[in-house]
Amino acid sequence: MGGRREDLDVFDRVANGRAEHGEIHVSEATQAPERYDPDVLDRDQVAAYQRDGFLVVPEFVAAADRQRLRQRAIDIVDAWQPSEVRTVFTTNQQERVSNGEFLASGSTVWCFFEEDAFGPDGELTQAKELSINKIGHAQHDLDDEFERFAYQPRLAEVAADLGLVDALALQSMYIFKQPHIGGEVGCHQDATFLYTDPMTVTGFWFAIEDATLDNGCLWAAPGGHLGPLRQVFKRNATNDGTVFEPLDDTPLPAPPPAGDTLVPLEVAAGTMVVLHGRLPHWSAVNTSPTSRHAYSLHCISGAAEYPDWNWLQRPADMPLRALGSAA
Ligand code: FE2
Repeated sequence: MGGRREDLDVFDRVANGRAEHGEIHVSEATQAPERYDPDVLDRDQVAAYQRDGFLVVPEFVAAADRQRLRQRAIDIVDAWQPSEVRTVFTTNQQERVSNGEFLASGSTVWCFFEEDAFGPDGELTQAKELSINKIGHAQHDLDDEFERFAYQPRLAEVAADLGLVDALALQSMYIFKQPHIGGEVGCHQDATFLYTDPMTVTGFWFAIEDATLDNGCLWAAPGGHLGPLRQVFKRNATNDGTVFEPLDDTPLPAPPPAGDTLVPLEVAAGTMVVLHGRLPHWSAVNTSPTSRHAYSLHCISGAAEYPDWNWLQRPADMPLRALGSAA
């Protein structure tokens, strides 16, 4: 759908509907939650999230659920027939590879290749199933297994505990971080890529497999969410590509070994990591022989404005749905 301006307008109305008819009742996901539910997050966890900009919750995903998501991701890749269009994902230089398939992927299930998956002749250098960077970005609305997981009531409770009002599931990714070629994800803030006014994007990252220093675990800057948003990632004027627009020239934390601000989040399979939208985070290349599968779901508040220049836009027949809504 990339390039169809009417789609953007429709989504904008959907995202703004509640804000137009009343007070905007959310400002930041870090505000004191009114719908505190001690059954999911306790007060210490909410305080830690507000202080650090991230929260690590061990044993959130049962082994059976991890296995189901993992198997479904493998099945999607198995069925994937790469076309002439080989969309590569790179956070470092996404402007360069923002083709029509990427821009449309907010409402599809698309497999993105690793940058290093191809040889000089343009052919894959290893099996397809070991060459995919990630699946994105609408499997939570288009695949029953991912839908069942994403819309589980317990996750809606977590979002409410953290003060995210009227949480909508915006975007999700199944990330493979393949052995030996799983690429670096450069230090970034998620609000750059999924912008609302006020800032509400919140990431829920689930370790499907153990994440370690060797296989490219997340690194995050504690308290870094209190700093400014550095840049935004916009659709370009002709609506067929993207461009970064700088907002603030404060440098993002340098990854190791150059910097020491980022801390590694080595977590066991089943752990959930919640990431504030302005939190700088990074992950290294996976140079190990072990994959590091993860599933991430990014949510925004339905009470915030979602500008029509965001790269991700939904068509009229595929509005965003509230967390916790029945599948
Ligand atoms: Fe991110």
